Amino acid sequence: MSDVANKYPNYSPGLEGVIAGISTISEIDSDRSSLQYRGYDVHDLAEKGSYEECAYLLIKGKLPTEAELKEFNEVLIAEREIPDYVYDILKALPKNAHPMDLVRTAYSALAPSDPDYKSEPTDHEANVRKAIRIVAKASTIVGNGHRIRNGLSPLKPKAEHSIAQNFLYLFSGEEPKAKTVEVMDASLCLYAEHGFNASTFANRVTVATLSDLYSGVVTGIGTLRGPLHGGANEEAMHMILEIGSPDKAQAWIDDAIENKKKIMGFGHREYKKGDSRAFYMSKVAKELGEEQGNTTFTEIANILEKTMAERKNIFPNVDFPSAYAYYLLDIPIDLYTPLFVVARLAGYTAHAIEQLDNNRLIRPKVIYEGAHNLEYVSIENR
Ligand SMILES: CC(C)(COP(=O)(O)OP(=O)(O)OC[C@H]1O[C@@H](n2cnc3c(N)ncnc32)[C@H](O)[C@@H]1OP(=O)(O)O)[C@@H](O)C(=O)NCCC(=O)NCCS
Repeated sequence: MSDVANKYPNYSPGLEGVIAGISTISEIDSDRSSLQYRGYDVHDLAEKGSYEECAYLLIKGKLPTEAELKEFNEVLIAEREIPDYVYDILKALPKNAHPMDLVRTAYSALAPSDPDYKSEPTDHEANVRKAIRIVAKASTIVGNGHRIRNGLSPLKPKAEHSIAQNFLYLFSGEEPKAKTVEVMDASLCLYAEHGFNASTFANRVTVATLSDLYSGVVTGIGTLRGPLHGGANEEAMHMILEIGSPDKAQAWIDDAIENKKKIMGFGHREYKKGDSRAFYMSKVAKELGEEQGNTTFTEIANILEKTMAERKNIFPNVDFPSAYAYYLLDIPIDLYTPLFVVARLAGYTAHAIEQLDNNRLIRPKVIYEGAHNLEYVSIENR
């Protein structure tokens, strides 16, 4: 036991192992490395369903019928546009702003334009409507946000596009290929929800003060950004590019382990035997590489994965294969974490609704280790 554990047996740094709520939204089975959304295996949803179906399931609590999904899609399409004032705010941001700054700012700015802005925080139906509007706008914000950052005008979303297609069309200005849409849609399903991860929990803490869903989402996006969480997919790709070629990978990883470097896209608080979403994305990324006659990334990944498993017993998380899958799809690296946002908004809003349906302020305790009972000395005598 560490000194801290000895001194404070009830304290768990990083809240590791602490149960902070009851939820029916998703279940992580660490032993089986599996993930289910409301009882459905995430791989079935990713392979046989669509991101829209996942979003419906997470927000509304059940899989939609054909008619319900059609109606849901119609609402998503109708709510996809972004008001001009939000684009003006994004255009006014400094040029060095990261796309995550744009998406966080956009949701902050969008809040007052929501028709349910003044609804009671615990109004379930109003929260569901807000959740759908929030999910609907994400791919437009990220796709057109990319255009704005690159000095291009925002494009009008097309009504026939899915959320995955909408993002791919807007950011590139071109009709996406079917395979690209398929991979993007599957990755959005896999990223849509993941229990009490840092950003979802932060989002719940925010709404639990009886704040609103937009504030929760802004908190979530800010929390997701860090490289220990959602930012890991971008960092993982920079790392793979730094390694450069399979013949350099072994020396690179040996040196990194020797120097106790964090290997981005590896490790997980919940999955100690491997992240099942990573197995699926590795398969997809491998297929993409083979189709393109480019196995460089898979070869680098194999060396890193084998060495990390043998020497550290640490396995890749979903961010590692997603990074090079996105790269093979020609997605700019700085959009990887914003894409995580596009997906995870379904999870954030589902959790916000669940929190507000049965709310209790989230307020843990802290151990105070500072000074006590000091005598106040007036400023001129210090
Ligand atoms: C995700 C993460 C923060 C989980 O962390 P955690 O549950 O707090 O686990 P810890 O950071 O305490 O790691 C436990 C041990 O494994 C090591 N470890 C964990 N992830 C590692 C990684 N990616 N590379 C190298 N070592 C790692 C730690 O250094 C630590 O070793 P030590 O006991 O010798 O100090 C951590 O694995 C990490 O930083 N990964 C890289 C970032 C990443 O990919 N994030 C996305 C998560 S989906």
